[in-house]
Amino acid sequence: MSATDQISIRVEPTKESRLSQVDFNNLKFGQIMSDHMLVAEYNDGEWTDISIQPYGDIAVSPSMSALHYGQAIFEGIKGYKFENGTVSIFRPDKNWERFNKSASRLQMPEVPEDIFLGGLKKLLDIDRNWIPSKEGTALYIRPFMFATEAALGVHPSISYKFIIITCPVGAYYSKPISLKVETHYTRAAEGGVGFSKNAGNYALSLYPTQLANDEGYDQIMWTDSAGHKYIEEAGTANLIFRIGDTIITPHGDTILHGVTRRTIMELAEKWGYKTEQRKVSVEELIEGIKNGTVTEAFAAGTAATITHIDRIGFHGQDYTLPPVEGREFSLKVLDYLNQLRYGKIEDPFGWNFIV
Ligand code: COI
Repeated sequence: MSATDQISIRVEPTKESRLSQVDFNNLKFGQIMSDHMLVAEYNDGEWTDISIQPYGDIAVSPSMSALHYGQAIFEGIKGYKFENGTVSIFRPDKNWERFNKSASRLQMPEVPEDIFLGGLKKLLDIDRNWIPSKEGTALYIRPFMFATEAALGVHPSISYKFIIITCPVGAYYSKPISLKVETHYTRAAEGGVGFSKNAGNYALSLYPTQLANDEGYDQIMWTDSAGHKYIEEAGTANLIFRIGDTIITPHGDTILHGVTRRTIMELAEKWGYKTEQRKVSVEELIEGIKNGTVTEAFAAGTAATITHIDRIGFHGQDYTLPPVEGREFSLKVLDYLNQLRYGKIEDPFGWNFIV
């Protein structure tokens, strides 16, 4: 018996499945949630009352501290179905580790492995019919935790809820995206919470992203808070570039430590590419696009998977990247990951967590 099988989880199955409402040939991102959710309560220093119950509304107090002071964190993971029906989750152990780092930064309790991974396994086993199998589709898994103490004093909450919901999804971005380099607004500063996956990091992105959308860009490219000189990440994913013959990703504590990004950089290294995790200045990127040394640029994330970038806007000027057809590295990595995640090839790294 593994650590993920040890926990006792009460199961209340739904009386009526909503599965027939799903058009699996036309999946949108995050619209219809699967039949069940996992819920765990944290009180008096321990996790209790762990259940899998029908997906539905939950009652909260208007004075619940997450609503006022933002102790709220989440993860994004994907589950896949192989042709033979096997259900697999991609590297959820890495999301569990990151979740607990986010928790610790926001003074929230850690969620133990048997609840996070064991609960997830059981949830997917129960909702296995919700997992699509067509290439480009997946079950998006959203674990999240928020502070539930009903009190307005500013202090770490004494109680929390941990919940996992899931939904069948298609692509988050269905075509290459354009990014506007953000040179005024800031996502994260040194010493802040940029590395953590907390709800506030996304709330603060909405206004500058709307401004970028109004100018015709799909997303923003965040830059450092000190001088807006160095590239950090896009609004919904990490960034990876191929400059010359090197695969490069910006790195640091102001940037989310993405599992997809990590996976791609690990593959690049194993395949013999030169890799670097370092600061990349906007100037280096723009000059590289102009002189042809930047041959690939893409967003990497659970939801975004690998989304090619076709245009970058900087100070009112647009810079166009080379056509997607010639992007040798990102096309190769996308193809490899698709084969691995849908169980079409061996899994030499043990990245598929079989349910
Ligand atoms: C994910 O990639 O899982 C995320 O959480 C990004 C979110 C903006 C959809």
